[in-house]
Amino acid sequence: MANQDKTNRKHSALLVDGIQKSPARSMLRAVGFTDQDFRRPQVGIASTWSEVTPCNIHINGLAEEVAKGVFSAEAKPIIFNTITISDGIANGYQGMKYSLVSREVIADSIETVVGCQGHDALIAIGGCDKNMPACLIAMARLNRPALFVYGGTIQPGKNHTDIVSVFEAVGAHARGDINEADLLAIEKSAIPGPGSCGGMYTANTMASAIEALGMSLPGSSAQEAVSPEKREDCHRAGQAIRWLIENDVKPSDIMTRPAFENAITLVIALGGSTNAVLHLLAMADAVNVPLSIDDFTTLGKRVPVLADLRPSGRYLMSELIQIGGIAPLMKRLLAKGLLHGNCLTVNGKTLAENLAEVKDYPANQNIIMPFDKPIKADSHLRILRGNLAPTSAVAKISGQEGTLFTGKARVFNSEEESMTAILGGQVVAGDVVVIRYEGPKGGPGMREMLSPTSAIMGRGLGNQVALITDGRFSGGSHGFVVGHITPEAMVGGPIAIIEDGDTITIDAEKNEINLAMTDEEIQRRLSAWVAPEPNVKRGVLAKYAKTVGSASEGAITDKF
Ligand code: FES
Repeated sequence: MANQDKTNRKHSALLVDGIQKSPARSMLRAVGFTDQDFRRPQVGIASTWSEVTPCNIHINGLAEEVAKGVFSAEAKPIIFNTITISDGIANGYQGMKYSLVSREVIADSIETVVGCQGHDALIAIGGCDKNMPACLIAMARLNRPALFVYGGTIQPGKNHTDIVSVFEAVGAHARGDINEADLLAIEKSAIPGPGSCGGMYTANTMASAIEALGMSLPGSSAQEAVSPEKREDCHRAGQAIRWLIENDVKPSDIMTRPAFENAITLVIALGGSTNAVLHLLAMADAVNVPLSIDDFTTLGKRVPVLADLRPSGRYLMSELIQIGGIAPLMKRLLAKGLLHGNCLTVNGKTLAENLAEVKDYPANQNIIMPFDKPIKADSHLRILRGNLAPTSAVAKISGQEGTLFTGKARVFNSEEESMTAILGGQVVAGDVVVIRYEGPKGGPGMREMLSPTSAIMGRGLGNQVALITDGRFSGGSHGFVVGHITPEAMVGGPIAIIEDGDTITIDAEKNEINLAMTDEEIQRRLSAWVAPEPNVKRGVLAKYAKTVGSASEGAITDKF
């Protein structure tokens, strides 16, 4: 009896125990279950493997390693697949509308399999921007013992390149700085193999956030995809799930409000992606933790940006790994009182216990700055409000672009329209490029504007042009950019009534974004505004547009 309690087969027992469950057992025997397996807790292993993208091409190999770890811990592993898409590939065309949608599809699919198949626990392995928060959302919804495994970062391409180098090379080609052969050479050598995009873009940002949240094993977010360390991490993750099962530790015990504060703090210190705002809000909502977009402002006032990592900085994740990864940074943040050390993590230890033995960075490194010489004294993630974004917008201000921008609006009703103008040289210094009807409902799908921001950079206008949108940005975007403008144009937010030539001011010190216009004029234009026909009327994008909420609350789809 004691043994049965220890296995904690709360869910699988309902599926496979007893005379009446003989048909279920019969089916499972055909996929390899033995008599012994039916007495063990069942652990679903969600693999986001796919030939779609280098980020996930190696993940089935990792899943098999996790399964070995689970088996050695006397639990029964069951690998199943879910989908993934690649932002890096889909950026800059209509298909990108499916990207944020895929977060929901993946979360739904993992919830569906684990919920249906009676798995007692879940290990999910992700390696790309959307599948990682999706895994965490599914874990939170299911609230069964669970842990996350990161697929790992890619190695640098030739000449220290990565995917953003290729996007920016397209802009450099448009400017005439490089020829087609140069561009082709970068295209062929920037992505050398498996792994997530190599800067502190969204995947590495989310991997780090998830480790700080306590939902992956210590050190696991700073490992290369193809490395003995990553395979060892997978094996250990398989074994670690046993402790979570035996002690009935659920995501809601780990993903607490202080743990989310730890995740936000680390994201800021690393100079992470704006997408973290969207995803952390959605993950918190899934586990019923009250977290608001304004918490990023509150925490951001006391947390400096310390990492000199791409896209705004110089280094890649693989170089951070060489000096010790993120753990020494977390230890420094803890020592400064900026992290909650008593938060539980998936290995059964607290964050502080995990960091106790971690050594500091070597003295001669230049990637993580000391507190007295930060990259930026406070957060680069700014939550802006104003008459242009009454319910918030998100800016990523590294400080290199300055903190104040006033310019004339150049308005585009889609990403494609803006690209034609930018690459055609019609966007000039002093412009504020406005890209609207790209929000969660409007696009639908809230596309990333990596192509326009890269094209602006490539044309050498990074410090002279701002870009604002109700869409969002890739973690690779940089420059003076403001996204997530809410309410979005499709629901009649003020971004819908901007006209060419209107003056827009973005003030990242005061956290404001405003149209130089009287309230009366705004109201007059809003009353004349007519909602356009939806871009899509059937299929998953149409379902998404109907159910998705505001980006200011994480763009979630399951709150009615
Ligand atoms: Fe997958 Fe960048 S496209 S991590």
